[in-house]
Amino acid sequence: MKDVLVVFFTRTGNSERLADEISIKLHGDIDEIKSEFKYLGISGFIRAGYRSVTKKIDQIEFQKDPSKYKIVVLVSPIWASNIPPAIRSYINKNKESLKNYGLIINGAMKENKKAYENFKELLGNPVSEYVADNSNIDYEICQKDLEDFADKIRYKLENEEENE
Ligand SMILES: Cc1cc2nc3c(=O)[nH]c(=O)nc-3n(C[C@H](O)[C@H](O)[C@H](O)COP(=O)(O)O)c2cc1C
Repeated sequence: MKDVLVVFFTRTGNSERLADEISIKLHGDIDEIKSEFKYLGISGFIRAGYRSVTKKIDQIEFQKDPSKYKIVVLVSPIWASNIPPAIRSYINKNKESLKNYGLIINGAMKENKKAYENFKELLGNPVSEYVADNSNIDYEICQKDLEDFADKIRYKLENEEENE
């Protein structure tokens, strides 16, 4: 079994940047979830919000098998305080492989407790979590938060190894 898979979905690139950073820190593999929809323009934005709030699932494609990894880190944007339909679809398909998961969600607002609760409701408590404010992504503060996030994942991996 391999250690870490970082899986992301993105519309405008922020989640991909966070996923790149954390996969480097954790020496993990990386995979992108692609949706059947691009969610572009105003109509895309409205559709994105509507489909998230109404808990729809998208048809998706991804490449790597999460069951081959000890920990899967999910990196997702927050849509209308909720879970993007492509991520919801990934979770539905791979729930068994997400028992040990890390969660990085990011949004444009400073306060996103409700969004975090919505993810937790579906997946239970993560091994490590980071709710990022996307205005911080380029800055020192985000590096520190990502390092703290990574430390908790490393700790969990060490414990798993001791128990093997
Ligand atoms: C339909 C829609 C709804 C959104 N709702 C929220 C929200 O409830 N809270 C928030 O902080 N950001 C919200 N955002 C902003 C995105 O979460 C934010 O820009 C994020 O960094 C985008 O990630 P990405 O570049 O990986 O797509 C929303 C964006 C879209 C498209």
